[in-house]
Amino acid sequence: MDSILVTGNGPLSGTIPIAGAKNACLTLMPATLLSEEPLTLTNAPRLSDIKTMSSLLQSFGAEVSSLNDGLVIAMSSHNLTNLSADYDLVRKMRASNLVLGPLLARSGEAVVSLPGGCAIGARPMDIHISALEALGAVIELKEGYLHARAPVNGLQGRRHKMRFASVGATENFLMAATLAKGASVLENAAREPEIVDLVSCLRKMGAHIQGEGTSTITIEGVDRLHGATHPVVCDRIELGTYMLIPAITGGEVDLVGGRLDLLTSFCEKLAAAGVEFDETDSGIRAKRTNADIKAVDVTTGVFPGFPTDLQAQMMALMCTAQGVCHLEETIFENRFMHAPELIRMGAQIEVRGGIAKVSGVSKLKGAPVMATDLRASVSLILAGLAAEGETILSRVYHLDRGYEKLEEKLQAIGAQVQRVPGI
Ligand code: UD1
Repeated sequence: MDSILVTGNGPLSGTIPIAGAKNACLTLMPATLLSEEPLTLTNAPRLSDIKTMSSLLQSFGAEVSSLNDGLVIAMSSHNLTNLSADYDLVRKMRASNLVLGPLLARSGEAVVSLPGGCAIGARPMDIHISALEALGAVIELKEGYLHARAPVNGLQGRRHKMRFASVGATENFLMAATLAKGASVLENAAREPEIVDLVSCLRKMGAHIQGEGTSTITIEGVDRLHGATHPVVCDRIELGTYMLIPAITGGEVDLVGGRLDLLTSFCEKLAAAGVEFDETDSGIRAKRTNADIKAVDVTTGVFPGFPTDLQAQMMALMCTAQGVCHLEETIFENRFMHAPELIRMGAQIEVRGGIAKVSGVSKLKGAPVMATDLRASVSLILAGLAAEGETILSRVYHLDRGYEKLEEKLQAIGAQVQRVPGI
């Protein structure tokens, strides 16, 4: 299995292009199942998770082609020949469950494997199930698979309130309700920018939806959706991760295509820590001019709160900040797997339940480390960039799931980062 070798070498400066959002693309792709006509996505990120979703869609009979060096994904779901999402694909990537709503709405039936556990927590499906049941679906669990069936006359528009603003369940409900009979209202809906992007695409396909980006979304069902072309919104998590580079190493980085409005809570914390950033003609410029970063407390939350997907990277920054801070994780129950690895690099962290107390140290030291999820992995790369000596990160397949051309992008700003095959 490949490893990544990082050698800390001081301030980093230069330009990094920000890709289309993994999480948006993974929800936009299943939208192809809603229509017989082609759906084309531009500004797609080049990631292994996108390949996994392509394979899953192809397993239903959809045609999926990757064009223009992977930046364009052309899909057509004219004929669906299979309505069952296999365990082998679903266990690789939880976002596979986003085919449930579209398959059910288009074909009246779907069989999707339960995703199983994952490194950051149990991640159950109850909110998805209740949301689709509210539209009249009957869902049973048999031998590890959810078997979902719509009523004979199709899904029915209904009002539903989710017990928690789940991102995936909002997306499944939205897609299913676009083809339901009559109006649906989703209360306590998630407000993430990826949902706003999904609605913008569904609208181009002919869906009638209002209220995206707020907690109440109204969907007026239509008989059919048509084809569309849609650019994937910028990846706010990749953007936030790279904004942390000049914060942790010093220097100045231009992030082309980045949008600050997608990251308000994160930016407030970064500013409080002493990082400077501005909007430029091409995106965002982030820099650290002060000698020290200040410790700031962070609590993760649903959008517009501080994203859980940036908590690990923020912890890496806080490891060398001046003072003591508390990072509280409220979205996933087991998302501090990076803490013991950062401690191996000399960080001072105490984890109690959902709260990590981080006492800044003057310098981290390179070490062999490994991570069990995507964001934890990249937090260790950030720590390695700031550390003295060499850090070698194993299990890098997590990074390939979510960070497009990571080594290339880091090398372009002067980082000493190298993939080492087969260690
Ligand atoms: C999405 C993102 C992921 C991000 C997360 C939270 C994608 C592909 N992934 O994941 O990167 O970290 O939002 O911003 O977009 N839950 C239940 N029952 C359910 C569904 C969720 O209890 O039926 C719980 C989960 O276990 C978790 C919390 O709700 O603790 C948040 O999950 P959710 O918002 O659904 O996240 P995902 O859509 O899986």
